[in-house]
Amino acid sequence: SAAEKGGWSSFMAKEVSEEPEAVANTLRGRIRDGAVAITELDGLDDLFRGISRIVIIAAGTAAYAGMVGKYALEEWARVPVDVDLAHEFHYRNPVIGPDTLVISISQSGETMDTLMAVKYARERGAKTLSICNTQGATIPRESDAIVYTHAGPEVAVASTKAFVAQITALNLLALHIATVRGELSADQVAEQVAELEQIPAKIQHILDDEQPHIEQFAHWMADTRSVLFLGRHVGYPIALEGALKLKEISYIHAEGFAAGELKHGPIALIEPGQPVFVVVPSPRESPVLHSKVVSNIREIHARGARVIAVAEEGDAAVLPISDEVLRIPLTGAITQSLLAVVPLHIFAMGLATAKGLDVDQPRNLAKSVTVE
Ligand code: G6P
Repeated sequence: SAAEKGGWSSFMAKEVSEEPEAVANTLRGRIRDGAVAITELDGLDDLFRGISRIVIIAAGTAAYAGMVGKYALEEWARVPVDVDLAHEFHYRNPVIGPDTLVISISQSGETMDTLMAVKYARERGAKTLSICNTQGATIPRESDAIVYTHAGPEVAVASTKAFVAQITALNLLALHIATVRGELSADQVAEQVAELEQIPAKIQHILDDEQPHIEQFAHWMADTRSVLFLGRHVGYPIALEGALKLKEISYIHAEGFAAGELKHGPIALIEPGQPVFVVVPSPRESPVLHSKVVSNIREIHARGARVIAVAEEGDAAVLPISDEVLRIPLTGAITQSLLAVVPLHIFAMGLATAKGLDVDQPRNLAKSVTVE
């Protein structure tokens, strides 16, 4: 009903507007004196000490959050991480055992593919931790440990605020595991925690300053038949998420690629007028990757692509080679994922809305897929 949407035109619009709160609520009560303090994990240090690897399993948007989590866990906790789609994990005789921590990610906690993979992991003796948005759901009940995301109920089929909450929880978890395993000093953790604490205000800034412009831009692009997304490092899963969201709700052909793969194939798709979103790493935090992605933009721009750069405020290198620049505030290399996704969520929603589609109930999709 209109009342449930709180004045918004759709649940999706309401839920995107709640992305700052989803992050803030997932952080709330879990940071003390610059350290990570996740009460649910008290007394469970053994889950993180005795392991030699981590496998993340999920489906859909949650799997892209998992891919971002890989960067955070390897960077900070120094544990090797594989990310697997739940349905691919379970039917191939994966190599796991008591030295493996299997982290499942699920908004609903009821996705059958993910549940089956968690049960399978337990049978093989792996340790299991669930990142879930729904209190008391089946997947957390089947797991040794739980870290809840506190995004609040998500109604729109396409996941938005739960995605940023999942990335937030994975960042906290990575810093927690890094602390338990002695991989980061208290100062290093405090520095990352400080970045995370500023994310809600920075997302709010994107919503306040950029949303109308992005929606207008999406409106102009309503007749587009194909959109490509490129990204590198955490920008890669964000590119995949941007493409998934566009497919899901606007029914446009959309594909995400790792920017480094461009010359190994996708550049063949570039023809004059082809819209390409590029998530650009921070020139200050990741100068090497920034220059590599700027070269990618140069290559596709020279071939006539219509480049839409998602770039940090003040990044002037992208200006002469981009048709549009969507600005995001400065932050750390890993937390950039939490900002870069916001313009992509707004764009997908804006484009589907411009096409007159029901963004909350896209055709053929279910919010939670409880069959295999
Ligand atoms: C369905 C939804 C997606 C969601 C996926 C995983 O396919 O349409 O939006 O990302 O399930 O759902 P979960 O509840 O496990 O996060």
